Parts: sequence; structure tokens; C-alpha cells
Amino acid sequence: MSIMSLLVALFVVAISSYGVSAQLSANFYSTSCPTALSTIKTVTDAAVSQEARMGASLLRLHFHDCFVNGCDASVLLDDTGNFTGEKTAGPNNNSLRGFEVIDNIKTQLESACPGVVSCADILTVAARDGTVALNGPTWNVLLGRRDSTTASLSAANTNIPGPGLSLSALMDSFSNKGFNANELVALSGSHTIGQARCVTFRNRIYNDTNINSTFATSLQANCPTSGGNGNLAPLDPTPDAFDNAYFSNLQTQRGLLHSDQELFNGGSTDSLVNTYVSNSATFFTDFANAMVKMSNLSPLTGTNGQIRTNCRRVN
Ligand code: HEM
Ligand SMILES: *[C@@H]1O[C@H](CO)[C@@H](O)[C@H](O)[C@H]1NC(C)=O
Ligand SMILES: *[C@@H]1O[C@H](CO)[C@@H](O)[C@H](O)[C@H]1NC(C)=O
Ligand SMILES: *[C@@H]1O[C@H](CO)[C@@H](O)[C@H](O)[C@H]1NC(C)=O
Ligand SMILES: *[C@@H]1O[C@H](CO)[C@@H](O)[C@H](O)[C@H]1NC(C)=O
Repeated sequence: MSIMSLLVALFVVAISSYGVSAQLSANFYSTSCPTALSTIKTVTDAAVSQEARMGASLLRLHFHDCFVNGCDASVLLDDTGNFTGEKTAGPNNNSLRGFEVIDNIKTQLESACPGVVSCADILTVAARDGTVALNGPTWNVLLGRRDSTTASLSAANTNIPGPGLSLSALMDSFSNKGFNANELVALSGSHTIGQARCVTFRNRIYNDTNINSTFATSLQANCPTSGGNGNLAPLDPTPDAFDNAYFSNLQTQRGLLHSDQELFNGGSTDSLVNTYVSNSATFFTDFANAMVKMSNLSPLTGTNGQIRTNCRRVN
């Protein structure tokens, strides 16, 4: 290898090891749209104080964006006559919420700084602010993501894990996105807030054996063996508070989803669940770090993608 090609190779390694942080930055909008962060927070806080669950819905919306070809706002695109987006994918259909909150933020920011703030960044910051509004941990969001001009229904159907998965299938799903088992457990702690529909936990409350029978029976009243698919139950006993009750609930076999209880079912992740029960601060730190990592999955930067004017459609 010549000295020159060696230098070029070293340069390439140096650049790529910078990763996304070379392209995303904390102060991305500080001159182009100084009110961006405060606007997102104000609108998100108002939405969460009107309905606490909205904090959970925004967090989940961000997850379902990032696990499908990166955090590029692809999940926000509406279906049209000649475009099929991700909204009707199995994990999303009749389930994702919060689109109107993102629209409200976008409308305000298009008026303040037209064509500057991406839908992908709005969603990333709103997910953080929604978590904080429910007393969860905070984290620093890097900015500068751009919006996709495409979406993938098939990737949404395959890349987002479902509630029937086993521990090893959950580990595989997260490993495909670069997350280890500890990060799987920490991120699953997001189920400390929000609700799930009967269709997602029916099989668990009638057929699983690793469930407290009193708990299962109480849920069956509002989730019959057929019908009532959309009836809601809280994911943990304190669905409007971001706390560590999700994990103590797993210790007594009261996980709502089969996938939740898999994290505490005699396997390798039991010990981390125990740690998070005894040390809520460790959970908060691990969650925040894993959220930063999730938020940085494959962003479009530089001249890739676009800044959508309307988050629901390509410009
Ligand atoms: C570990 C694999 C995961 C599975 C199998 C899973 C599955 C589910 C399911 C089935 C629901 C109920 C949806 C409905 O009934 O409409 C749900 C809700 C929720 N999920 Fe997950 N999820 C996982 C990981 C995550 C992650 C990583 C996050 C965020 C970081 C997240 C955040 C949420 C939130 C906040 C809700 C409540 C949403 C609301 O009330 O609107 N989940 N999840
Ligand atoms: C879809 O149709 C609209 C109007 O009917 C058109 O403006 C747009 O370019 C079409 N998009 C694609 C991807 O063909
Ligand atoms: C999405 O939900 C609607 C309304 O319940 C339903 O009619 C449609 O078949 C569902 N789409 C898919 C792809 O499952
Ligand atoms: C319980 O499991 C059986 C066998 O797999 C299945 O046929 C049945 O539909 C399940 N019941 C519910 C309520 O999910
Ligand atoms: C299930 O929970 C009830 C209280 O809700 C408790 O009395 C019972 O002992 C629990 N069952 C098992 C098997 O732990």
C-alpha cells in the first residue's frame, strides 16, 4: 500500500468513526430557527397536559420511525392514491397516535422559520419532551436530521418487534438495529407509560402460564376472547408516570404483553430487571443513553432527503 492510500484509508476510518455526531449537532438550529426547541416543548407540554397518554404516544411514534430505515420521519407520511406509507403496517394500524401534535408543531415552525426544521427532528425532540413531561429522564438531542421522500411498509412490518415475541426473538430484533440485551431491557422500560389494546395482550391473558391469575382474570373483563380488540389496558399500574414500576410489575408476573414478561421469565435478563427495580436512577441513565443511540439511527443529513413543508407528504 502506498503512503498516500494509507493516509486516505486512515482519513476514511477517522471520518466514519465520527459517526452521526459529525453530521448532527446540538446547535443545528441556533441561528436558523432559534425558537425551534422551545416551540416543540411548548406544544408537546400542552398536549401532554391535555392528555397524559400523549407523552407515551409520541415516544412510541419516534421508536416506530427509527426502527424502519432510521429516524427520517417516514412514519409520518400518509398513504395516497399513488403512495403507500407505513401507517397501515401491522404494528402501526389503528395504533400509532400523536400525528396531530407533530402537525401543530410543524405549522408553528413553518410560520416562524419556513423550510428549516425537519419533521424527523421535531419527532425526536417531541419524544424526549413527552417523556420528560411524564417525569421521565431527559437527554440531549442532536439535530440536523432530514426527512425521507420514501417509506417502507414491508420494513415496518418486519423491523418493528411484535408483542408475541420470545426473549431470543426480541434480542435478535434489537441486535439487528445495533442494540444489546441491556439496551433491549432499558428501552422496553418505556412501557412504564401508555396503554395497549386487547388484541395485543389477549393471547397472554388467556393462554400464558407465567401470569398472575388474579391479574389475568381482571383483564379478561374488558378483553373478551373475541371482540373488543381496541379496548385498552395500562402497560403498568402507573401509565401516566415514567417510573420503574414496569419492572417491579414484571417480578410479580404482571407484565401486560407477552414480550414484557419475557424479560423476567427465568432468563438472562432477569438480573437487569432486578437492578432496575432496586435502582431507578440506573434505569433512567440507561434509558436516556439508549434513547440517544436510537435517535441517531441512520439519519439523513447534508443534502440527502429534504425538509418537508408538511410532515404528512413529500414536498
Ligand atoms: C421490545 C419490543 C417492543 C414490543 C414488542 C412493543 C410492543 C408494543 C405494543 C404491542 C404496544 C401496544 C400498542 C397498541 O395496542 O396499540 C406498545 C405500546 C407502547 N410502546 Fe412498545 N414495544 C416494544 C418496544 C418499545 C420501545 C423500544 C419503545 C420506546 C422507546 C416503546 C414505546 C411504547 C409506548 C410508549 C407505548 C404506549 C403507547 C400509547 O399509549 O400510545 N415500545 N408497544
Ligand atoms: C402522485 O400523484 C400526484 C397527483 O395526483 C402527483 O403530483 C405526484 O407526483 C404523484 N407521485 C408519484 C410518486 O407518482
Ligand atoms: C387497518 O385498519 C383498518 C380499520 O380498522 C382496516 O379496515 C384495514 O383493513 C387495516 N389495514 C391493514 C393493512 O390491516
Ligand atoms: C389460546 O391458544 C390456542 C392454541 O394455540 C388458540 O387456538 C387460541 O386462539 C388461544 N386463545 C386466545 C384467546 O388467544
Ligand atoms: C396474584 O396476585 C394476588 C394479589 O393480586 C395474590 O394474592 C396472589 O398470591 C398472586 N398469585 C400468585 C401465584 O403469586
